[in-house]
Amino acid sequence: MAEQLGSLARTHTCGALRPADVGQNAVLLGWVHRVRDLGSLLFLDVRDRHGLTQVIVEGDDALLERTKRLRSEFVVAVLGEVERRSPDTINLGLPTGEVEVRAKEVRILNEAKTPPFSIAEDMNVSEETRLKYRYLDLRRPQLQHNIGLRHRITMALRKYFDENGFYEIETPILTKSTPEGARDFLVPSRVHPGEFYALPQSPQIFKQILMIAGFDRYVQIARCFRDEALRADRQLEFTQVDLEMSFATPPLVFEIVEGALAACFKEIGVEVPLPFRRMQYAEAIAKYGSDKPDLRFGMEIQDFGPLFADSPFGIFREAVAHGGTIRGFVIPGAAKFSRREVDELVEQAKALGAAGLIYARHTAEGVQASAKAIGEEGIRKVLDAAGGAKEDLLVLASGAADAASKVLGQLRLQVAKKQNLIPEGKWELTWVTDFPLFDWNSDEKRWDSVNHPFTAPREEDLPMLESDPGKVLAKAYDVILNGWELGGGSIRIHDRDTQAKVFSLLGMSEEDAKNRFGFFLESLEYGTPPHGGLALGLDRICALLAGETSIREVIPFPKTTQAVDLMCDAPSTVDPRQLRELHIKNT
Ligand code: AMO
Repeated sequence: MAEQLGSLARTHTCGALRPADVGQNAVLLGWVHRVRDLGSLLFLDVRDRHGLTQVIVEGDDALLERTKRLRSEFVVAVLGEVERRSPDTINLGLPTGEVEVRAKEVRILNEAKTPPFSIAEDMNVSEETRLKYRYLDLRRPQLQHNIGLRHRITMALRKYFDENGFYEIETPILTKSTPEGARDFLVPSRVHPGEFYALPQSPQIFKQILMIAGFDRYVQIARCFRDEALRADRQLEFTQVDLEMSFATPPLVFEIVEGALAACFKEIGVEVPLPFRRMQYAEAIAKYGSDKPDLRFGMEIQDFGPLFADSPFGIFREAVAHGGTIRGFVIPGAAKFSRREVDELVEQAKALGAAGLIYARHTAEGVQASAKAIGEEGIRKVLDAAGGAKEDLLVLASGAADAASKVLGQLRLQVAKKQNLIPEGKWELTWVTDFPLFDWNSDEKRWDSVNHPFTAPREEDLPMLESDPGKVLAKAYDVILNGWELGGGSIRIHDRDTQAKVFSLLGMSEEDAKNRFGFFLESLEYGTPPHGGLALGLDRICALLAGETSIREVIPFPKTTQAVDLMCDAPSTVDPRQLRELHIKNT
């Protein structure tokens, strides 16, 4: 039978007691983390959000008898006196580890079934079990810490934006499609048969309209919804720190966002150097084969094309002659790789899409390359140009410029992870700027927006919007942390004609554009200030700052990679009556 809390009030949290409290009476309320029954003596670790406190039950036979039925995760109230622990039982690993509470009374407020996994031990539990019993999983100290950190980061951001003149403004969840490159979640309307709301992929259009409406600086901790494949850094619903500024220039956006991220880092006691580094998209692709370069380690991709223009090695010579390049990077310490290890590397590169991979290194006998035809002099030249040490291995691939770099970029990451070449505890932040505005969609024979259709082209590239859209660069920027895209944004188009032109390049007829975005095109005609902004992924910021490799670890109730909420079993079927009301036929 559960006992009542009655009028008992907590005097201290389970993380609060210190030697200065010795002699005081304390009331602790929490969960039984561990019980150690030593016969005439019983130790309880009582846990709450704030920590653990050791409770000792001794000398009172009736109390001892009653507390012997306590099990892990029972909810208890403990009244007792704070005592100093004997020197041999002091636990300096615990903030409360110098004291314990000698129980005078223990009330069992609720019992608990034996949990499917231990909250106290760091056991290897499947993610399925963790997510099905998320309320238990969330009790684990690590997740309590992560959710606490998320709260503190959110509060720090709110404070920062308030201090910088931003209004927090809510935008609708039931709305019209906002194009961010994913599929929409649709919500059928009951009162308008056959019509649907879309859940926002982002508040993009609304925040721009808020600029037109004169709010000058907007921020929102906004829930966004995208029906896309789930990964470690992606969920169907996620949270953006979404911001927009009137009269914004890229340097102003950079300054504001850098300050916001610095405020987040402060919450983990790290001071990040400002300003962040900046890199153009073209350089990021060339050197790192990625628009989200991980700068915590070197192994930059280099262009060796000119060295192979007259090479006796036909494959590379021909590749260069036909406008391709030879690119490669140095793997530190890998000259000693065995035959099997280099073969694996070649297979890895092929799996990533390379036609092949050539390697070169110094050996005891001189220099060696996997393509002998390069010749000793050729090998020496390329090894010298690469600048590695004798212990290193140079890998080379041929192909079209960006394609070769993208394959090598993925190989660079895989190798660095496998060989433990990524230093721990390093924070490398960079801006990537000047993205192309469009990507050619060869299936549909039209341009796609690289970012979203509201991104402004660079002024100097405006004339090419007609003549050579593929060459137009955008006033767009992403902020990258350790190879993760933390956020993206741009300066926006603020005149109707350019916006209409971009819609048409994206293959939208005037009719289409009017149906989908007519309201927005119209709003642009009523005095739109130049504006721009960005959205940060709050889940990603929290995951990285918590030292996690998946955003699921900082989201209280995430979905699995199969897009399922295992705890409440969503999605699920619904009552046919509900479907009828919504005018939906189940096929
Ligand atoms: P974008 O689509 O780049 O830009 O999104 C901004 C940031 O949101 C995060 N993010 C996600 N996080 C978790 N799960 C997802 N499925 C997911 N998708 C995106 C990323 C990303 O950098 N409206 C524009 C912003 C702007 O132009 O101001 C936008 O949404 O961290």
